[in-house]
Amino acid sequence: MTDTTRLPQALQQRIEQLAQQAPAGPILSPEQTAALKSDIKALLKEKNAQLVAHYYVDAELQALAEETGGVVADSLEMANFGAKSDADILVVCGVRFMGETAKLLSPGKKVLMPTLEATCSLDLSCPPDAFRAFIDEHPDHTVVVYANTSAEVKALADWTVTSGNALHIVRHLKAQGERIIWAPDRHLGHWIEKETGVDMLVWQGHCVVHDEFMAYELEKLRAEHPEAKVLVHPESPENVIALADVVGSTRVLIEAVRTLPDRQFIVATDYGIFYKMQQVAPDKELIVAPTSSRERQCSSCAHCPWMAMNSLVNLKRVLETEDQEIVIDPELRERAVQPIERMLAFSREQGLVK
Ligand code: 13P
Ligand code: SF4
Repeated sequence: MTDTTRLPQALQQRIEQLAQQAPAGPILSPEQTAALKSDIKALLKEKNAQLVAHYYVDAELQALAEETGGVVADSLEMANFGAKSDADILVVCGVRFMGETAKLLSPGKKVLMPTLEATCSLDLSCPPDAFRAFIDEHPDHTVVVYANTSAEVKALADWTVTSGNALHIVRHLKAQGERIIWAPDRHLGHWIEKETGVDMLVWQGHCVVHDEFMAYELEKLRAEHPEAKVLVHPESPENVIALADVVGSTRVLIEAVRTLPDRQFIVATDYGIFYKMQQVAPDKELIVAPTSSRERQCSSCAHCPWMAMNSLVNLKRVLETEDQEIVIDPELRERAVQPIERMLAFSREQGLVK
């Protein structure tokens, strides 16, 4: 295993600053919520628009997506759903790379987001120019990037992957004797490398949410709940993954809660996912994995600051104004869509999506 050098300190500081400054949606009364939901439903119908929501956004938004014929899903199924939808407008409730992926796959549709400011620390940690230089230093490698990257970075890649298909795709590449450049999440990269034994150069990005889960505190919590199963998203640190009963993408973790006979689960991922977990298994108990200790306070505290920027208020506004639109240069699109289409074709072939 070879790591690239650490991210420049200035970039790291900027990412932390942006995460801290991300404004969460407003707290609404039940009356305000009901009025907004009704207005949004009317606007979706009028404009033939569909909501494509991630498991980490507010429960209200997830419920609304389900009630209006949209989808609530992991990033892989969001991409798949958007590509197959016959709506005129897709409104992506999630973070920027998810909106960009939808637009890359559906250039003929209008793709809106409640706010284009909702970004992702992994996307921010991989500036295209620095990444291009890194690729140039390491020819003869297959470039595999996580979906959590900009269109510019995808345009430099051979494959895009998500946590829902990364293991399958990297195993396939290893079988062909490929050596890999992996970006940007270092924890997911190391986990994939360990599971597959592939020769991999790993970019040093991290997720501001998953990086905060703490192994020592998790062990203590598990000792207090010996019956609980530990579920971990692979963007978490290696010593946290080592404590997991199940490691996997958001969809895999939801399936674990639904299908395992256990009654209690400690969950190391964004707690926005509890809406769906509770829906599929209402009688099970979910506990957030620890992100703080006596020595260290959490800053994102198991909830993505950028996912939290999506709200009923800015969703209604964008449906009225259509001003938060994803626009991608056609020449860039031509290159950036290729690794995503390769990923989707492979995932459909393997039965990972329909
Ligand atoms: P999934 O691909 O599992 O939906 O995860 C996306 C993400 O941003 C996790 O932090
Ligand atoms: Fe990015 Fe982490 Fe937020 Fe997912 S949870 S969108 S990886 S910052």
